[in-house]
Amino acid sequence: MSDTAKLQIGDKSYEFPLVRGTENEVAINIKTLRTVTNGVITIDPGFKNTGSCESAVTFLDGEKGVLRYRGYSIEELAEKADFLEVAYALIFGDLPTKEQLDKFHTDIKSKSVVDDDIKKIVDAFPKTAHPMGVLSSLTSALTAFNPTSVNVESTEDMYNSVVKIMGKFPVLVAWTMRKKQGLPLNYGSKSLGYVENVLKMMFEQPNEDYVVNPIIKNALDKLLILHGDHEQNCSTSTVRIVGSSHAGLFASLSAGISALWGPLHGGANQAVLEMLEAIKADGGDTKKYMAKAKDKNDPFRLMGFGHRVYKNFDPRAKIIKAAADDVLNDLGVNDPILDIARGLEQEALNDPYFVERKLYPNVDFYSGIIYRAMGIPVEMFTVMFALGRLPGWIAQWKEMRLGKEPIGRPRQIYIGENERPFVEIENR
Ligand code: ACO
Repeated sequence: MSDTAKLQIGDKSYEFPLVRGTENEVAINIKTLRTVTNGVITIDPGFKNTGSCESAVTFLDGEKGVLRYRGYSIEELAEKADFLEVAYALIFGDLPTKEQLDKFHTDIKSKSVVDDDIKKIVDAFPKTAHPMGVLSSLTSALTAFNPTSVNVESTEDMYNSVVKIMGKFPVLVAWTMRKKQGLPLNYGSKSLGYVENVLKMMFEQPNEDYVVNPIIKNALDKLLILHGDHEQNCSTSTVRIVGSSHAGLFASLSAGISALWGPLHGGANQAVLEMLEAIKADGGDTKKYMAKAKDKNDPFRLMGFGHRVYKNFDPRAKIIKAAADDVLNDLGVNDPILDIARGLEQEALNDPYFVERKLYPNVDFYSGIIYRAMGIPVEMFTVMFALGRLPGWIAQWKEMRLGKEPIGRPRQIYIGENERPFVEIENR
């Protein structure tokens, strides 16, 4: 294959270099397009064909259903690693040695106390507030209590900011849930592992010791790993673009949380469970909802189905589906919602509408069922996603800052009014 692409506009032709990734992905480098063509730009709504950066964090092949963090397959990571190891690999590039992992965990624990005044901010939210809005606000508020911005030139400063947010974020996650449930805001215990501590902080009752259930701990580890990163999705692109203005890490993450909240992205896990509940309440007629999903005059979509990138299957969904079966069995939970989910999946996989459009269950189709079995309220599902995605956001933000990427500033094609005279208000 030639290493350039030719573009013909009118009678002029231009040549642009091709960029090739380590997995042979190919892009046309159009950095000089505007200059050489005197102002021509590309337009690509939703960035379906646009690469925003070169990245060494995550590789995915949507056609083949492949997902790897830093070269390690998601299947192996989910089976053999714990969340903190995966977080380390995402952020620093390689799986940690035992010493590196121990130090990482110790440093995270040493930074995990949040300023007590943050509790006043939590207090000020009504109990009805959605936890994602609360989490985004609290993450942004951390900036006020940690005002010095990260010196990205300093490896030490960068490392300290990473362990600081890795330590404080789970506290904020737990507090968003405790606030809703009217439970006192707590801290976990330094003697516990990262994920065990998350569970303790979330579920500990004021009048009894919390004992970690290993089935629940393992399931949460797996879910967090599966959500760890997913290259340039909506929330990650948001984190990178906000960070590209040199806004701080916490501010960039807060923006990412808001992007994740939407039902077309991370909010899908909540939407899936609400949809399954609605189907159950409506008599469990999956065929009726399949018909609604296919009806172009009906805004209903089968939540948890389809993906911008995966047009074969979502490898995370496969792992989660198996985990859902195991967790429910292990916990002895018999959830009729799981049967509805299985039924919908079977119908969709055999339905020409879904087959032709390559719509398969995505990561969030089954995750909510596991979260529910673990005792996590529906409104917290997307917060749990954010907890898993945190290391991915950090890794991508760090890569963007260290790569000295320019400020993100897309162009547009203007389609509004041409110049017209101002009309005085009494004459309009
Ligand atoms: N139910 C019914 N039809 C669907 C669905 C669905 N869930 N998803 C896509 N389609 C249809 C579209 O209507 C469209 O049909 P058309 O070609 O006849 O117009 C076609 O499939 C292509 O869909 P697009 O919306 O163009 O695909 P896009 O890549 O833009 O969207 C998205 C992907 C947003 C994930 C979409 O599939 C969707 O809305 N799914 C449901 C929400 C969801 O589960 N989101 C979670 C994604 S995973 C994550 O963020 C972690």
